Amino acid sequence: MLRIKDLEAGYDELNVLKGIDLEVKAGEIVALIGPNGAGKSTVIKSVYDLATVTGGSINFKGKDITGIKTHELLELGINFVTQGRVVFGELQVKENLEIGGDLIKDRDIVEKKLGAVYAKFPALKEKENTLAYTLSGGQRQQLALGRALMNDPSLLLLDEPSLGLSPKLQKELFKTIKDLKKDGISILIVEQNAKKAIEIADRTYLLENGSVALTGGKEIVKHKVIKSVYLGG
Ligand SMILES: Nc1ncnc2c1ncn2[C@@H]1O[C@H](COP(=O)(O)OP(=O)(O)OP(=O)(O)O)[C@@H](O)[C@H]1O
Ligand SMILES: [Mg+2]
Repeated sequence: MLRIKDLEAGYDELNVLKGIDLEVKAGEIVALIGPNGAGKSTVIKSVYDLATVTGGSINFKGKDITGIKTHELLELGINFVTQGRVVFGELQVKENLEIGGDLIKDRDIVEKKLGAVYAKFPALKEKENTLAYTLSGGQRQQLALGRALMNDPSLLLLDEPSLGLSPKLQKELFKTIKDLKKDGISILIVEQNAKKAIEIADRTYLLENGSVALTGGKEIVKHKVIKSVYLGG
């Protein structure tokens, strides 16, 4: 599905990623963990052409997508939920969701998709006509995710979706993410909560200083690096 090879990327003079190899196969949840500043968001931003790619390649379903524009990515079925769950505060919840379905020309299909998002997130249905800036953090997260789902993505890139959520809401979010996998969506998730990320992911990559320091399945939770640095010994 997504294959990143030898990716080098950064911002202006700053080289952040120093040759990353990473793969998300169809139907997989892949987690990207690592300390602040390691370059996790930059991996996602490289796909989205928000960071400067200086080497390597990014392929989606066999097609080179390095540097292609956001609307083309959306048309290919790749959606991105940014770190900080950006929503359009001055627009209603429903309007935010409709923006996510902007590529769909058929109004009936938009309504159907709205129904599906509301079924997943009933709180959004209740608030559909309220302005998005009034939402709580958890509702905002649901809205950002719901907006991405309107586009019927086959690949979702999630940047720290659990940040700032209460333990209860985090639990719900991770369940939602597992449900999305059941729906057939492939997911690349950047996550601070290493333990939870490893638990839900088919594969996890530990990023340190712009390089992959460790990769593996659920067994890496027992790895000494993960234990000492991320899980408090
Ligand atoms: N827009 C930008 N312009 C310049 N430098 C940036 C930009 N975004 C990130 N950086 C720098 O790139 C490096 C990697 O940042 P990145 O956001 O990828 O880290 P991260 O692993 O996602 O960290 P965090 O866990 O804090 O979100 C950092 O040194 C950061 O200061
Ligand atoms: Mg980040």
